[in-house]
Amino acid sequence: MQELLRANGVSKHFGGVTAVDGASLSVEAGTITGLIGPNGAGKTTMFNILSGTLRPDGGQVTFAGIDITGWPAERISRTGLTRTFQIARGFPSLTVLESLMLYAPGQAGDDIRTAIFRPSRWREQDRRIAARAAEVADKLRLTEVLDNRTEALSGGQKKLLEIGRALMAEPRLILLDEPVAGVNPSLSRDIADVLAGLRDDGYTFLVVEHDMDTVARLCDPVVVMAEGRDLATGSFKEVTANRAVQDAYLGHVPA
Ligand SMILES: Nc1ncnc2c1ncn2[C@@H]1O[C@H](COP(=O)(O)OP(=O)(O)OP(=O)(O)O)[C@@H](O)[C@H]1O
Ligand SMILES: [Mg+2]
Repeated sequence: MQELLRANGVSKHFGGVTAVDGASLSVEAGTITGLIGPNGAGKTTMFNILSGTLRPDGGQVTFAGIDITGWPAERISRTGLTRTFQIARGFPSLTVLESLMLYAPGQAGDDIRTAIFRPSRWREQDRRIAARAAEVADKLRLTEVLDNRTEALSGGQKKLLEIGRALMAEPRLILLDEPVAGVNPSLSRDIADVLAGLRDDGYTFLVVEHDMDTVARLCDPVVVMAEGRDLATGSFKEVTANRAVQDAYLGHVPA
């Protein structure tokens, strides 16, 4: 299998706090790789480093064979590594279709001269992007609400829309930050089904998630972080049978 992303010995300090302490992980194309670990393990910090939101203090990150260590987020996302945010962003009064269209890459409409002097090209491109947005909505089971304002969506639909925005960018790897946090178990399963379908279509994901049912159903392999390091990697079954992993979680039983 082809390795898409690799982090080697990454570290990050915040003042006296070591959030990530020489962690390594890799994501192969066509997988939904899970990143789990107890609270404070460094998962979000790692995520922010991989997507360029934070610069690492040490270590190396390569994506599709390119060294992207320390690159700003925008440059990283242009290479095809995109992320979603835990808090759904966006413009509440736009429709689902419009808000998906906003995230299409390289639009000629970005260039105001094209819009003014070559309106036919602009309209043609608009139609193409609308068709792609409809296709993405279909994959996410959002076709029925395509013309609804995003503010009227349910919590679960907003999460799906956030994934849809990431897909519009035609990414090679999508980092998902807790895709089922705060949604009920039945909806979690729906979202997991959608993600599994996207993986079968060839998309690749790295997912941070606390919900173990979802991780068990969806993620293979699973990387476990604890105290800023990668502690174990393997199938969900393998890592949960690992003694060191069990100890790491036991030390952090949620109150
Ligand atoms: N901006 C920051 N400033 C100071 N300390 C930070 C900062 N961000 C994270 N930390 C600390 O770094 C450590 C790792 O935090 P991080 O948020 O990466 O963990 P996490 O695995 O995502 O945890 P959780 O599962 O609770 O979201 C924690 O001790 C946290 O308090
Ligand atoms: Mg976190």
